[in-house]
Amino acid sequence: MTYKIAVLPGDGIGKEVVPEAVKVLRIAIESCNGPDVEFVEMEAGGEFYLRTGREWTEDTEAFVKTEADAILLGAVGARNSSGNSVRLPDGNLAGYSVVIGLRFALDLYANVRPVRLLEGVPTPLADKTPRDIDMVVVRENTEGLYAPIRGTLVRSGEPEVALDVRVITEKGSRRVVERAFEIAKRRNGRPSDGQSMVTCVDKSNLLAGCQLFRRVFNEVAEKYPTIRPDYAYVDAWTQWCVRRPESFDVVVAPNSFGDIITDLGAAIQGGLGVAPAANIGDGKGVFEPVHGSAPDYYGKNVANPIAAILSGAMMMDWLGETRNDGRCSQTAKVIELAVERVLREGKVRTYDLCKGRWSGVTPSSTTAVGDAVAQAATEIAAG
Ligand code: IPM
Ligand code: MG
Repeated sequence: MTYKIAVLPGDGIGKEVVPEAVKVLRIAIESCNGPDVEFVEMEAGGEFYLRTGREWTEDTEAFVKTEADAILLGAVGARNSSGNSVRLPDGNLAGYSVVIGLRFALDLYANVRPVRLLEGVPTPLADKTPRDIDMVVVRENTEGLYAPIRGTLVRSGEPEVALDVRVITEKGSRRVVERAFEIAKRRNGRPSDGQSMVTCVDKSNLLAGCQLFRRVFNEVAEKYPTIRPDYAYVDAWTQWCVRRPESFDVVVAPNSFGDIITDLGAAIQGGLGVAPAANIGDGKGVFEPVHGSAPDYYGKNVANPIAAILSGAMMMDWLGETRNDGRCSQTAKVIELAVERVLREGKVRTYDLCKGRWSGVTPSSTTAVGDAVAQAATEIAAG
């Protein structure tokens, strides 16, 4: 059997970092005598929309939604010639169907975002080391403020009232909280003392939706007696994340709070250039770096491909688990180890990581980092 991967680089630096992820995947799979994987590269996003008037072709959409086993996505978001971001007639970002639409269409209810500081990566937190920062944020991904129940009341051409309805359901809460506890079960606990824990990050002191979310959280927690349930209001959580990240193991949050706190998470793990993500449900998965298309950086071969490469590793790990295929899990492990080695050695890195102790390092290009990780993967697989 052959795994079919839809590769959607999308816009901007997505077109530079995704090829590096694919390069590393191909080489790691080959060096591990891994599974047969077919990478099918397809165009989608804002630039495609500018050129063709649609976000992707019907064939691409059909392949992604039905045939592909998994999707590796770069980023979407383009600018037109006057420098404004390209929007659809309904006001949504061009590329919306690809990034947000797929989360709904494929019911990818959990957005799993590991926040781990790797050795050799500068963190803005003084006194924190890789031993302190190792958590996973599980963001609800199919409801909350992202439910497409919004609109603007326009009278005489004036947008007078705008509404975004925040939807929190029992079903949506339960499945994402269960996923968070399952992830905690397979980890080694929080860095500070190894305690297994899931922290429910919400605003249940005020919001009805969050009260429902927390009630479901408590019900699910009862089924996991060895994992400690923990609670934080989202505003307070942001300062604890900065002051004592070592006290978190797995964190679960409603959609928009999860969106916000994972950018903070990315910052403490060394920046958006190194933060990967997996959008998963019970069927397919979409794997994408947390960062966006960063059009200002596109075309210079400077963007950090590590987040995309680690997203590729998450994809292999997920295939390994869901298809019960040890060869995929092995490939994922080799890619992770290769990234760790390159970062630890500290010589080959993009500009964003050349600071602090590494400020004297000459920045490498996107492709050079991809090459170094691919080379390390070959060596690691060879033993
Ligand atoms: C993310 C991004 C998206 C989101 C944007 C691009 C709509 O910020 O994946 O975190 O808000 O979910
Ligand atoms: Mg975001």
